[in-house]
Amino acid sequence: MWLRPRRLERALRAQGLRGTPGGPARACLAWFGPVPRVVVTDPGVARDVLSNKFGHLEKPNFPALTKLLADGVAGLDGEKWVKHRRILNPAFHLDKLKGMLPAFSACCEELVGRWSGSVGSDGGWYELDVWPELQNLTGDVISRTAFGSSFLEGRRIFQLQAEQADRVVATKITSIIRGLIEKRMQAIKEGESGTKDDLLGLLLESNMRHTDEHGQSSLGMTTEDVVEECKLFYFGGMETTSWQDRARQEVLGLFGRNKPEYDGLSRLKTVTMILHEVLRLYPPAIVINRKTYKEMEIGGVTYPAGVVFDLPVLLIHHDADIWGSDVHEFRPERFAEGVSKAPAAFFPFGWGPRTCIGQNFALLEAKVALTMILPRFEFELAPSYTHAPHTVITLHPMHGAQIKLKAI
Ligand code: HEM
Repeated sequence: MWLRPRRLERALRAQGLRGTPGGPARACLAWFGPVPRVVVTDPGVARDVLSNKFGHLEKPNFPALTKLLADGVAGLDGEKWVKHRRILNPAFHLDKLKGMLPAFSACCEELVGRWSGSVGSDGGWYELDVWPELQNLTGDVISRTAFGSSFLEGRRIFQLQAEQADRVVATKITSIIRGLIEKRMQAIKEGESGTKDDLLGLLLESNMRHTDEHGQSSLGMTTEDVVEECKLFYFGGMETTSWQDRARQEVLGLFGRNKPEYDGLSRLKTVTMILHEVLRLYPPAIVINRKTYKEMEIGGVTYPAGVVFDLPVLLIHHDADIWGSDVHEFRPERFAEGVSKAPAAFFPFGWGPRTCIGQNFALLEAKVALTMILPRFEFELAPSYTHAPHTVITLHPMHGAQIKLKAI
C-alpha cells in the first residue's frame, strides 16, 4: 500500500512521532525525499525491528549500492534469502572455522614477517600505517578461506620475552612526580637555561609565569595542579598501554611462543573485551536499515507500509544514558562479564535472523591476528596519526592508522 507523504506524516505524527526524538519509541521522523524515515534510538525497539517477528520488514533497496555490494545473501529478502542463508550457514559453523585456522595464521604470519623486516632488529621505533596492512590482511584471509588460494606453509618461530608489567602504587608515583617537579623548579630557580620541552616543562613554565614573587599563583597552575596533571597524564598513558600489556600477557600465557590453537582462542578474555569495546566505539556498520512492506506495530506505534527504519548503531553505542558518562572512553572492562552482561544496546553485527553471518569468522580472524602480533611487537600511536573516523559505506580511519612499532 502506498500512502502519500502527507497522509503518512499525519499518521505517524498522530502517534507522537516528531522531528526530534521522543514519543513511544524514542524515535524521530525524518524525510529522505518522499520516503519517511524513522530513526529509532531505543535499543529495545531497535531489537524488535531487527528480530522481525512477523516478517513484515525487509531490507530497503539502495539501487546504486545493490549491484555493487548486495547481490548476495545480504541484499536478498523473503524466500530467496531464507534459501541462501540456509545454504551459507554451515560454511560459517564453528567446526568449519576451526579448519580455517591454518589459513588465518598463514596470512598473519606473512604480515608479521613483513613488519619484522621493516622494523629491523636495532630495537628502534618504526612508523607504519597499519590501515592498508589490515585491509590487505582481511582481503587475504577471505580469499584464502573463501576461495581456497593456497597459503604459505611453515612458519618462523619468533623468540619472545614475557615482560612483567611493573605495578607501581599511586602514592609512590605521586611522590616520584613531586620529586621531579622539585628538581626541575630548583634548576629553573638556579637559572638553568633551556627548560625541557616536555609536558612537565611546559606545565612548570606556565606555573612559573603566573606565580608572583610571594609564591601565589594567580592565573597559573599551583604545584599541586601540576602534580595532578602529571598523574593524569601518567595514568592516562598507562591505562591505554596497560590494555596492550594485559592482552600481551594473556596471549603469552595461553600460547607461549606457539601458534594459536582453536580452543585457546576461545579462552582469550582480555583480547575479546578489547575487540568488543573497539566494536562499540567504532562499529563498522554505523546504521542498519529496514523497511516495512506491510503495516505493522512496533514499540506502540503502527507503521504503514513503506516506512524506512534507521537504526543508528553508532548513536546507540554512544548513548550516555545507557553506557554511562564515560561512554566516549575506551573501557574494555564494560565487557568483563561478556556481551550478555553488557547493556543490551550493543549491535556491531546486527541482531536477529539477519545477524552477520561472518561474526565468528571476523572475531576469530581478529583474535588470530592479535595473538600473532602482540608477542612480537610493542606499539603506540604515531604523532602523525589524526583521529578522523569516516564513513564510506563502512566506518574507517580517514587518514590511515599510523602507529609506531618496536620489535620485542
Ligand atoms: C567486524 C567485521 C564485521 C562486521 C562489524 C559486520 C557487520 C554486519 C552487520 C551489522 C550485518 C547486518 C546488516 C543488516 O542487518 O542489515 C552483517 C550482515 C552480513 N555480514 Fe557481516 N560484518 C563483519 C564481517 C563479516 C564477514 C567477515 C563476512 C563474511 C565472511 C560477513 C558477511 C555478512 C553477510 C553475508 C551478511 C548478511 C546476512 C543476511 O542478510 O542474512 N560479515 N554484517
